[in-house]
This record gives sequence, structure tokens and C-alpha cells, in this order.
Amino acid sequence: MTTPHNRIRIFEGDITTLTVDAIVNAANEALLGGGGVDGAIHRAAGPRLLEECHTLGGCATGDAKRTRGYNLPATFVIHTVGPVWRGGDQGEARLLANCYRRCFAVAEAAGVRSIAFPAISTGVYGYPLDQATRIALTETRRHLSGDSAIEEVVFACFGAKASRTYREVLDEVFGRRS
Ligand code: AR6
Repeated sequence: MTTPHNRIRIFEGDITTLTVDAIVNAANEALLGGGGVDGAIHRAAGPRLLEECHTLGGCATGDAKRTRGYNLPATFVIHTVGPVWRGGDQGEARLLANCYRRCFAVAEAAGVRSIAFPAISTGVYGYPLDQATRIALTETRRHLSGDSAIEEVVFACFGAKASRTYREVLDEVFGRRS
């Protein structure tokens, strides 16, 4: 098996264009659509995604639930709900780590081999990008170091600032590629 580092790809652009087994949606607890990446995913997947979301009964912050991808190139959407940033002393770090853990658990249960994440909570929910990135990559490293069928984890970065941050933190968390 390849090392965890070699299974990570940083992609700058729109997550809805990615041909992977699953893309992750940064949703809200209602799971009935919204702005940001959530809006983009629902637009690209088409109305049947919202129909399926109606059957899920919402999702707690830090949890994740799976639907089909409908018109997306991705087979599945894994919807997770990140914490709203309230200054950092309201359990935000633990809740954001839970999002990544639950997404990986849901992905493994569905036989997913390639998964793409957006920068959960770093848009409307206001989580500082560098701190959120460190959590994303630390949880990914932890997961890939264990018993996992996942061959590729893509981080979809919306813009140059996000992709620069991910590259910097990747080197810190995983060590430089030789
Ligand atoms: N592809 C990849 N990343 C994207 C895309 C895209 N198409 N569009 C935005 N981003 P946000 P949150 C980035 O606000 O902070 C929604 O209304 C964006 O630049 O989408 O978790 C939900 O319904 C940012 O880095 O999610 C919730 O109510 C990241 O995705 C609430 O927003 C997350 O930004 C969730 O807020």
C-alpha cells in the first residue's frame, strides 16, 4: 500500500466537477440545501438530491450522512455539518474533527475508494482556514494510517489562498515529500 502522503491530492477548483466515488458537502443541520458549496452541489446534482435529503431527517453538527450523487460525476454525496466558529472555545475543533471522522466512516462503509472534501466550515461558518486545514489533514493522516480501503483523498480548494494553505499545512502534518 502507498504511504498516506501519496494518497492525497490538492485540487484547486469546483468540487462538483470531480470524478470520485464520493464528494463531501459542507451542509447545515436541516440538510435541505443552502449557499456556498452546498448550493453548488445541489445545483449540479439536480432536484432528486433534495428529494433524498428530505428523507434523512437532518444531521447533527459533527455527524455525516450519505446520499446518491444523481447528476454529479461522483457516485455519492456525504453530507456533513461543520461547527459555526464562535471564537474557538465552544468545542469547535472537536466537532470539526468529528466531521472528518464520520465522513471517513460513512465512506468506508459504502466501499468508497476516492473521496473529495471541501474546506468544511471555512466559508459562511467562519472557521479560520489555517486551523481548519490542520484538523482536516491531521484527521486524514490518522485515518489513512489505519486500516483503510481509501486510495485517494482530494482536497478541493476554492481559490489560490486555500490551495496555498493546504499545501503548507500538508508539509507540516505529513512531512515533505522526498
Ligand atoms: N467547490 C469547492 N469548494 C467550494 C465551492 C465549490 N463549488 N463553493 C464554495 N467552496 P461554505 P460552511 C468553499 O460557506 O462554511 C451553506 O449555506 C468555500 O470557499 O460552503 O461549512 C450551508 O448550507 C469555503 O472554503 O460552508 C450551511 O448553511 C468552503 O467551501 C453553511 O453554508 C466552505 O464554505 C455551511 O458553511
